[in-house]
Amino acid sequence: MAHASQAVKNIAVTGAAGNIAYSLLWRIASGEVYGPDTPVALRLVDIPDALRAAEGVAMELMDSAFPLLRGLTVTDDLATAFDGVSAAFLVGAKPRTKGQERGDLLAANGTIFGPQGAAINAHAAQDVRVVVVGNPANTNALIAQQAAPDVPAERFTALMRLDHNRALAQVAQKLERPSAELEKMVVWGNHSATQFPDLSYATLAGEPVADRVEEAWYREEFMPRVAKRGAEIIEVRGRSSAASAASAAVDHMRDWVQGSRGWATAAVVSDGSYGVEEGLVFGFPTVAREGRWEIVQGLDLSEFQRQRIAANVAELQQERRAVAHLLAG
Ligand code: NAD
Ligand code: LMR
Repeated sequence: MAHASQAVKNIAVTGAAGNIAYSLLWRIASGEVYGPDTPVALRLVDIPDALRAAEGVAMELMDSAFPLLRGLTVTDDLATAFDGVSAAFLVGAKPRTKGQERGDLLAANGTIFGPQGAAINAHAAQDVRVVVVGNPANTNALIAQQAAPDVPAERFTALMRLDHNRALAQVAQKLERPSAELEKMVVWGNHSATQFPDLSYATLAGEPVADRVEEAWYREEFMPRVAKRGAEIIEVRGRSSAASAASAAVDHMRDWVQGSRGWATAAVVSDGSYGVEEGLVFGFPTVAREGRWEIVQGLDLSEFQRQRIAANVAELQQERRAVAHLLAG
């Protein structure tokens, strides 16, 4: 018989009837985020038109008989959705289709995140952690964070772990070694094609990766491959990534709660590190320790790195201008 000794953690997942949630909910219910001793209660959140489908998802979760699953609520009401939640996965939003950039979704998706941020501000538990998955994730996270003035800004993040995992996978494949041997990977900036997957500090079994790959592969194959992997998946699969996105979201939240194994990329609210304007939600090299993401400090940046980081800052400033009407203050 499974013994769960801790208090139940309430966890909200928006877009509960969608593709990503169909994988994500099972991973959370199995205990991957809070560990094997913590029971969880899930809030499945969607819009009215999708509530019946979300009910079906809840039925399937029930039928999975997870020992740690202690509650299932399906709702379109934001106060109910976020009441007492310790974790919120803000997934619900339109995906892009072939030929679109993620930024093209701002007009359609931006309005979703202010009300959700406000509801988190009003109803969530004190230890709430938010990860925005819905695109464009960084600016949507900014919108949600600005709508939650009473929640510490560091509690709002956007998902860039998928980009990080893609970068690990490309190097692992190139060097024919397991990704577990790689450390100090980072993808700076925006979850967009402008992102900067950076191998400057990466090591394989302790040795610099940069010594083992050609510069041309790094700049002309690796960087665009990782940055455009989302579009490649849409092209090949016919729909945007779902299980890999869910897996990355679990990695992100689990590490945040339980600690990371070395560096992991998280998009966090900038404190001005590395010249990134304070307040932007930006992918940094981070370490999760004692329940917090800490930006790795003291890295030397080359001119090339500075330029790539600056391009991401400029893009996020431009996205922020485009949603100025949705931002608090
Ligand atoms: P999907 O279309 O399969 O599902 C989206 C779900 O969100 C639907 O059930 C829809 O009804 C729901 N929804 C829409 N508006 C909502 C709202 N206001 N409140 C609650 N739910 C709402 O899409 P998907 O494949 O699950 O992708 C969801 C989002 O995640 C998309 O924006 C996609 O681009 C993004 N995404 C991000 C990453 C990342 O790494 N950040 C990776 C993959 C996908
Ligand atoms: C991804 O990176 O797979 C997602 O952001 C979906 C997309 O539109 O690329």
